[in-house]
Amino acid sequence: MPFDPPFRLAADHPSVSLDLHDPRFFTDPWASYAALHAQAPRFFWEEEGKWFFASYADVNALLRDRRFGRQILHVASRQELGLPEPQPHLADFDRIESFSLLELEPPAHTRLRTLVNRAFVSRQIDRLTPRITALSHALIDGFADKGETELLTSYAEVIPVTIIAEMLGVPQEAAPRLLDWSHRMVRMYMARPTRETEDDANQASADFGAYLADIIDWKRKNPADDLLTQMITADRDGQTLSEEELISTAALLLNAGHEATVHQIGNAVALILSQGADPAALFADDRATTLTVEECLRRAAPLHLFQRIALEDVTLDGGITIKRGERIGLLLGAANVDPTRFTDPMAFRPTRDEGANLSFGAGIHFCIGAPLARLELKISLPILFQHLPNLRLKAMPEVKDSFHFHGLERVELVW
Ligand code: HEM
Repeated sequence: MPFDPPFRLAADHPSVSLDLHDPRFFTDPWASYAALHAQAPRFFWEEEGKWFFASYADVNALLRDRRFGRQILHVASRQELGLPEPQPHLADFDRIESFSLLELEPPAHTRLRTLVNRAFVSRQIDRLTPRITALSHALIDGFADKGETELLTSYAEVIPVTIIAEMLGVPQEAAPRLLDWSHRMVRMYMARPTRETEDDANQASADFGAYLADIIDWKRKNPADDLLTQMITADRDGQTLSEEELISTAALLLNAGHEATVHQIGNAVALILSQGADPAALFADDRATTLTVEECLRRAAPLHLFQRIALEDVTLDGGITIKRGERIGLLLGAANVDPTRFTDPMAFRPTRDEGANLSFGAGIHFCIGAPLARLELKISLPILFQHLPNLRLKAMPEVKDSFHFHGLERVELVW
């Protein structure tokens, strides 16, 4: 049956009406992306009230375009832009966000990113190989005899949170609380959160912030060989992070350090199994594993949408004008299946070697954790398939109704 796109394209103008919560969209956004690539790779999304970009060339260029930022309040006031005042019931959430690397623009972003980046360069991250390997084996040993497992809770969720908590030097016992705070805060990034979600995210931010302040205080007195201590200690040029920057950065690393990777492990396993691909070939050697991991990131990315705000009036080639202060939507998930960039883009081809996908973004906010996420995927996926060679999906997993995160509700496996 031909695909019936869940959106309506206006006849005279590239304007699209599309319900984010339509299961035909969020369960398989790639089918809609294919239709959008054919009909309207740049479109005004009526329900969202802004322009969206789906092509690889646009998304790649706009992520790097310094006329757009993740933030505008460093160059304009709320009054000037006609923005509402911050809401008191979101004060704790906003406080953590306002010092977050992800929400800053240069020069503040450059300074903070330089301080944190040292820990995330590949050379440092590669040292984690034995630990990620041992953890992956230990987790599988815990459920291998059972003949079945729910992958997200037994495996995918444990590896990233354990590793990032250990890197930062946050006690392991805190992992369940970290996951809980993080899940509650991350719900704020979904389209139009409810008041209940906002209150809950604010409470989680307050509790998370207080917990991190205590740990930071303890680390000041008990420095150790970990990232939090490194961030507390002045660097060569005497640069340090303020208390608020420390809390925000630690919270961001703990949240970003696992949310996307959990879903990517789940998405990759479901993709491989549903395609009937041969794991022995996928993970035959280091190069095959690297290409498989990249193809899974391209074809089943966990984060599909990031926004930018115009820092000045911008007229794009083709005549679209974005006014200062207006937002645009960049569809990373769609860019990854652009037929002008990837051959037969909807096909899962683990040997594909066609250059970078955009799953980790591009430009100054390019994912700082990409080397870590890639290493976790390169280790955890082959170990899972090697340990359990008869792995099968018990049922087709349900997709979460949470575009722009593309994640699965549960991944029930049998062997
Ligand atoms: C598969 C896993 C992951 C994916 C797909 C992913 C994706 C992304 C993307 C697309 C961005 C850019 C956002 C933008 O341009 O607006 C980003 C930024 C970021 N990511 Fe990741 N990420 C992953 C894992 C991680 C991990 C493991 C960490 C940390 C340990 C991490 C930490 C960060 C941070 C701190 C930023 C902000 C960087 C900045 O603003 O300069 N991410 N990530």
